[in-house]
Amino acid sequence: MTSNKFNPPAADLPGKPSIPDWVPPALTKEKLDFAKLRTIDLSLVESDDPKVVDELVQITKKAIREDGFLFIENYGVSLEQLHRQFTLAQYLHYNISEEDQERLLFHPEISGKWAGYKHPWGFKRERKVWDGITQFNWYSEEWADYSRVPTCILPFMDEIRAFNEFLSESVNRRILILLSKVLELPENYLWDKVQSHGGPTGEGYYRHALFRPFTEEAEKLSKGLRFNGHCDYGTTTLLFSVPVTQLQIWGQDEVWRYVPYKPGAIVINIGETLEIVSGGHFKATRHRVFKPPMDQINAERLSIVQFNSSVGDLRMTPAIESPLIQREGFADYQGAFREFQKTMASGIPIPTNRQWREIQIAETVNTTDVKRQTIGGDWVMHDGKLMNKREFHGVTVILPV
Ligand SMILES: [Fe+2]
Repeated sequence: MTSNKFNPPAADLPGKPSIPDWVPPALTKEKLDFAKLRTIDLSLVESDDPKVVDELVQITKKAIREDGFLFIENYGVSLEQLHRQFTLAQYLHYNISEEDQERLLFHPEISGKWAGYKHPWGFKRERKVWDGITQFNWYSEEWADYSRVPTCILPFMDEIRAFNEFLSESVNRRILILLSKVLELPENYLWDKVQSHGGPTGEGYYRHALFRPFTEEAEKLSKGLRFNGHCDYGTTTLLFSVPVTQLQIWGQDEVWRYVPYKPGAIVINIGETLEIVSGGHFKATRHRVFKPPMDQINAERLSIVQFNSSVGDLRMTPAIESPLIQREGFADYQGAFREFQKTMASGIPIPTNRQWREIQIAETVNTTDVKRQTIGGDWVMHDGKLMNKREFHGVTVILPV
């Protein structure tokens, strides 16, 4: 097992250019009704005191049943090491050549992946309305073949790779141990049976994203939405907390709230695979990216994220050997788990994890697509709330707008 303290390759090795440090943007001064998320100290997973571990399991259980989101701290990466990764992400976005933007351009409609470079004109290969969002996404192909990576970032791939290996093998592994313990299963259950492996991110991916301020046109068309409300489909998503306030989560009281900034912390969100495996005891987090408060409206939001994926060939079903599920049954919750159950009951085979994630990426709707983003398009009124209703492989997905 890898060490639980990140020890990256040096930033000043021969051949590495010296690059400008990322400077965190100023925080919002607005009094916002932030989401109240629980924070856990990940280093306590290794405690020799079973009481400490048990307490940690209980806090985690509450957080993922009620919020689906939690902050983790003390996971083994210092603030300085983390800011170096933001420096690299900033360098990529400011320096990727036009030739590389074209050569490495993503093609989500065909591949069902975000792999490569996302141009700032929406989430399709064809350029639509300018959204100012650029991304570079590393999947197994990009880790295996650096000709698929922007030339400007090549001198720093040792650091980016080491960071991802640490996140997968140490951070995500410890989170999955904790979640296996919540299900009262052997501690390596989710890591061994559900999590995909191979390369730094298995079947998942790593993202550098830059959100630039919207134009007036995009703001009007999108009604403030940068990315529609959705659930991630995999195991866990490791989102690094950032100063520009745009991430929102859907609370139990059915209100969108911004996630506050917690320097150095990782926001963990639970993917749909884990919701299904847990028989609905874990909630896949409903979240979206919205416009920032007015005092950050002109700020650039830089974001780095590791998306962890489940094994693609599996068709996910609940881990019924879990003593928690045996004791309490399935949790009745209006999410992916319930919809998958309905699909099974109607005799349609549920999609594999790969089919499930690829169709959602391939069919992502731009927030500026006013024909789809309206009642009569994808939007419906559902129990008095405006919801986005889609169907993928016979499974209905209803999410708050
Ligand atoms: Fe997401």
